[in-house]
Amino acid sequence: MLSQVHEVCSQRTDGEVATYIPQLAYAPPEAFGIGLATLDGHVYETGDSRLGFSIQSVSKPFVYALALADHGLEGVLQRIGVEPTGDPFNSITVDEETARPFNPMVNAGAIVAASLVKGTGVEEKFERIRNALSAFAGRELTLDERVYNSENETGDRNRAIAYFMRTMGALEGDVDEVLEVYFKQCSLLVTARDLAVMSATLSNGGRNPVTGEVAIEPEHVSRVLAVMSTCGMYDYAGEWMYRVGLPAKSGVSGGIAVALSQRLGIGLYSPRLDRRGNSVRGIAACEELSQRLGLHVL
Ligand code: DON
Repeated sequence: MLSQVHEVCSQRTDGEVATYIPQLAYAPPEAFGIGLATLDGHVYETGDSRLGFSIQSVSKPFVYALALADHGLEGVLQRIGVEPTGDPFNSITVDEETARPFNPMVNAGAIVAASLVKGTGVEEKFERIRNALSAFAGRELTLDERVYNSENETGDRNRAIAYFMRTMGALEGDVDEVLEVYFKQCSLLVTARDLAVMSATLSNGGRNPVTGEVAIEPEHVSRVLAVMSTCGMYDYAGEWMYRVGLPAKSGVSGGIAVALSQRLGIGLYSPRLDRRGNSVRGIAACEELSQRLGLHVL
């Protein structure tokens, strides 16, 4: 079944590989991998499911989970809202009434989430993030230095977002340090298989179904899935919920993580993106899978 979906969706050759982070432009445009992890720890895979790519924004829900673990629900809510914006992921906005970014899935909110992770200094904070995401994936994740350097060299828009948030009182601390942590989190290397296991860990109440390790306490899981449901697919979140109906997060390198609570996790990778920045084949495959397996939550 998974390979049938892969075959059908491979026919899609539209979309463009992201280039605004120059290193991402080297991704193989034809690459396409799907992983599906069930809660008994089985992982089904097809295509380029073990090809590495930088996680980019798919890291956001998992770092948000870590911020929740470090500060609790109220502590995090005071600093990051949970309202979808309909704006692009990199818009330079905060909720001016509350001086909070709108939600943790846009860059502004994700930068604040990264700043909330406990630890002294960049290295300690980043190591906590790397360890947390590794627990979700069930293997030790590593940094793609080239992507990190490339993003650091060209990340002025995120710098603008961060400085703007600091003038609004939405972000504390040293902007360069916060962004180093954020850029590094986005540059962790994963595969479609990893994203399947990471999502299945959320679906399994925070316990990795392959390793048995607890990656996040169960009390935080529903909050992470909630922001994925409402804000996870950029300004496509509404149509995504309508068509596919599952909590998910996409990223500009072409990854998508999809979680269906109590049932399974899906990870997809295909770097050609539509105009909103979502993987063309990834979305097509999710629609197929949702229909064929009857996964729509509503
Ligand atoms: O901050 C950026 O622009 C990238 N590191 C991540 C962008 C991304 O995947 C967009 N997601 N919502």
